[in-house]
Amino acid sequence: MSDLDLPCPDTLARRHRLLAQIGEKGVLILPTAREQIRNRDVTYLFRPDSDFFYLTGFAEPEAVLVLAPGHAEGEQILFCRPRDPERETWDGRRAGIEGAKELCQVDQCYSIHELDSILPKLLENREVLLYPMGLGADFDARVQLWRNQARAHSRQGIGYPMELVDSSYFLGEMRLHKDAVEQQLMRAAAGVSAAGHRHGMRQTRPGMMEYQLQAEIEYVFQRQGAARLAYSSIVGGGVNGCILHYVENRAVLQDGDLVLVDAGAEIAGYAGDITRTWPVNGRFSGPQRDIYSLVLASQAAAIATVQVGRPVSDYHDAAVEILVDGLRELKILREGREEILDKQLYRPFYMHRTGHWLGMDVHDVGAYRQGTEQTWRPLAAGMVLTVEPGLYFAPGQDGVPEAYQGIGIRIEDDLFLTPDGPEILSAGVPKEIEEIESLMAGGWG
Ligand code: GLY
Ligand code: MN
Ligand code: MN
Repeated sequence: MSDLDLPCPDTLARRHRLLAQIGEKGVLILPTAREQIRNRDVTYLFRPDSDFFYLTGFAEPEAVLVLAPGHAEGEQILFCRPRDPERETWDGRRAGIEGAKELCQVDQCYSIHELDSILPKLLENREVLLYPMGLGADFDARVQLWRNQARAHSRQGIGYPMELVDSSYFLGEMRLHKDAVEQQLMRAAAGVSAAGHRHGMRQTRPGMMEYQLQAEIEYVFQRQGAARLAYSSIVGGGVNGCILHYVENRAVLQDGDLVLVDAGAEIAGYAGDITRTWPVNGRFSGPQRDIYSLVLASQAAAIATVQVGRPVSDYHDAAVEILVDGLRELKILREGREEILDKQLYRPFYMHRTGHWLGMDVHDVGAYRQGTEQTWRPLAAGMVLTVEPGLYFAPGQDGVPEAYQGIGIRIEDDLFLTPDGPEILSAGVPKEIEEIESLMAGGWG
């Protein structure tokens, strides 16, 4: 159980599934992320590599997992930092060799300092070597070094891996399909994220700084147990809402403007990813209502197509069609519907896709297309995705009535697909105009 009283994923069962896929001819080497220096003696807040954490639940830096199916001395091998009382006094506790072996339920655990001497032996007589290719020049070079060392014994009749395979594909396909425990964890991540947005809506006042609103939201994330943000929070007042990844957050929130907030908490390694756009003074103006209602309608149309068996591209197409109809009604686009869709003439106002897979990474892994034809893959139960249409009218933009210039709106929810349709994980934060206005006025739950 985690400190939020959440269930722990069964990482051992995940490793067993992967071992079966790798088969006895293969071997997998998977390192965790590296600690990164920020400046002098300061490091960036450490976050384990998602694939590594998915398979081990181990959150320390300087660790490597090896899966060698059928290996006589154990097929699941972890390398990690040994206990070191002095370092632990400075940098924090370590599980150590024995602790990590028990914690991760691996067959063998060695010191990370033994990696170079042990690893070449683990490659002997394996035909296929799986590892995350291109993760970094250092790691790529080390893998080649270990392989060269295994090859040096080939004169004694010992085989070495001739085939190199990117492990990211296998992990991507596993991680794309979430189970019931992951559903609970992602429900928690979206729930905490929603609580932050609700609090932020209530605290918003004209004259406040964007970073002050950011602090209110992130305060709730942390207080509710988020160890990290899922990504840097975007808090854009007025025209700043038209900058898709605006993270500066240093401007004043002006009376009469909207504020676009895209912020999510990370809980138990899983990301929430929610966007809401609300009026700084608590009341939508007429032009803001026009555009907001249009984006909301396009989101509803998109969500209605998130169903098992439908191609993953359908929900983007559904959102775009509604946006295009609205842009024509508002006379912002004057060409025919088909021409607008064919030539993507809406792109000056809607330049991103309507969503992405969501999981341990905010832009999560898993292929969107498949097969030799590379067609869009059908949605299946257990997939999690965002639905996030928007409209962005920069100041002075051609063909845009003045009343709409400087308006940037995005509405983003997190959906867990079940056989009966999607569960909206982020439903805890309102998005209807009346609900938002009521919450900002002190009502709504
Ligand atoms: N927060 C990044 C995204 O919505 O894709
Ligand atoms: Mn998103
Ligand atoms: Mn987002």
